[in-house]
Amino acid sequence: MLSAITLAFPFIILVAVLLFYKWRFRSLFPVESPIPKSVQSGPAQHAQAAILRSKKGPYILVHDYPRPRISSKEILIRNRAVGLNPIDWKCVTYGFGVHELPWISGRESAGVVEEVGADVNDFQIGERVWVASTNYRDNRTSTFQEYVAALPFNVGRLPDWISFEQGATLGVACVAAAGALYDSLAIPWPTNPPYTCGFEAVVEQDRPWILIWGASSVTGMMAIQFAKLSNLRVFAVAGSHNSPDLYNLGANVVVDRHKPEEVLEKARNLRIELGVDCIGKETATYAVRALQPGSKLVYLVQRPDQDALEQAGTEATDVLIKRFHEDQTYGSNLVNFLSHHLFAQTLRPVKFEIVEGGLGAIEEGLQRLRDQAVSGKRLIVRVE
Ligand SMILES: NC(=O)c1ccc[n+]([C@@H]2O[C@H](COP(=O)([O-])OP(=O)(O)OC[C@H]3O[C@@H](n4cnc5c(N)ncnc54)[C@H](OP(=O)(O)O)[C@@H]3O)[C@@H](O)[C@H]2O)c1
Repeated sequence: MLSAITLAFPFIILVAVLLFYKWRFRSLFPVESPIPKSVQSGPAQHAQAAILRSKKGPYILVHDYPRPRISSKEILIRNRAVGLNPIDWKCVTYGFGVHELPWISGRESAGVVEEVGADVNDFQIGERVWVASTNYRDNRTSTFQEYVAALPFNVGRLPDWISFEQGATLGVACVAAAGALYDSLAIPWPTNPPYTCGFEAVVEQDRPWILIWGASSVTGMMAIQFAKLSNLRVFAVAGSHNSPDLYNLGANVVVDRHKPEEVLEKARNLRIELGVDCIGKETATYAVRALQPGSKLVYLVQRPDQDALEQAGTEATDVLIKRFHEDQTYGSNLVNFLSHHLFAQTLRPVKFEIVEGGLGAIEEGLQRLRDQAVSGKRLIVRVE
């Protein structure tokens, strides 16, 4: 008996070591399908998706994820390009917003309408569209997959001059920047054609200023364009290497973000009363100090320091991004406004870079965002 155990011992150790290495390098092994066998009936039911099988990641490409089923009020889009956003790595790194496993992230894409619900009249199969997905709780509406379900009022048509890759940069930044200006800062909102609005000053020196801290972020670059459409003058704070692009989008002044004291001095001279911070607590607090006392500031990431706010008497608000899907009138107005300006070419998608490797390259792209190695552009993956 003892000698049998002695003989089996090396074998048991070998199996244990192999199992450990299989677990340790699990991302290299083929992934088991998350779909119960009973619904794996035909190829049309399955699609690629980059899923989280653990809250800590990584995103893993699977080829047999269930294709989302749509209700009669929804449409299904076959994604051709998908945008990568900071939220897609933050939810993993900081452990929030992953409500079940497997989980799908991804908040924006562009593609072609594949299916239309019975109650939907305003889209046709085959139309080229972009989508912003703000419903974080429904995996069907997440874009890190081949097909995505969407409410029609959250989907816009793509003009011919905009590629799928450019279209995939639009969603989150457009909804966030428009929400920052038109909802949080309550800048006059263009709800009807011709979708021009805002301050009526016709003389350049009467147009109000808006400060945008982090103006070379994709959200910041959209905010610059909306501010111009609203007849505002833009004071942009960004890395100086991005200045030419920001002037091109409509900024009036660009000041180097690495020289905050210079920013404060120049901004105070212009007596700016509206501000957007796209970066975090420190920059939002600088923005409070740069604005006039009693100003209005909207922050996308973190609220400014409370003492600074009280000292300046400045009002700070965040962006209620989920209003885009929860409030149909608001969502429709926003999509109509964006569509009008995209077709008129008075609104431009920002630069993008393709991360090669399709949905399987999402983890690599998100690591670059996590490392803050992306400047003045959106990373995109193609759905291959
Ligand atoms: N609350 C919401 O609903 C909501 C919605 C959308 C986005 N967000 C958040 O808003 C932030 C921006 O998102 P995004 O996708 O637009 O970002 P992004 O394009 O990935 O941002 C990259 C840019 O950030 C700039 N940057 C980094 N640190 C900076 C600093 N200290 N000061 C000024 N600029 C700085 C860099 O500027 P340079 O290279 O020029 O130096 C770079 O161009 C993210 O944190 C995102 O999670 C929130």
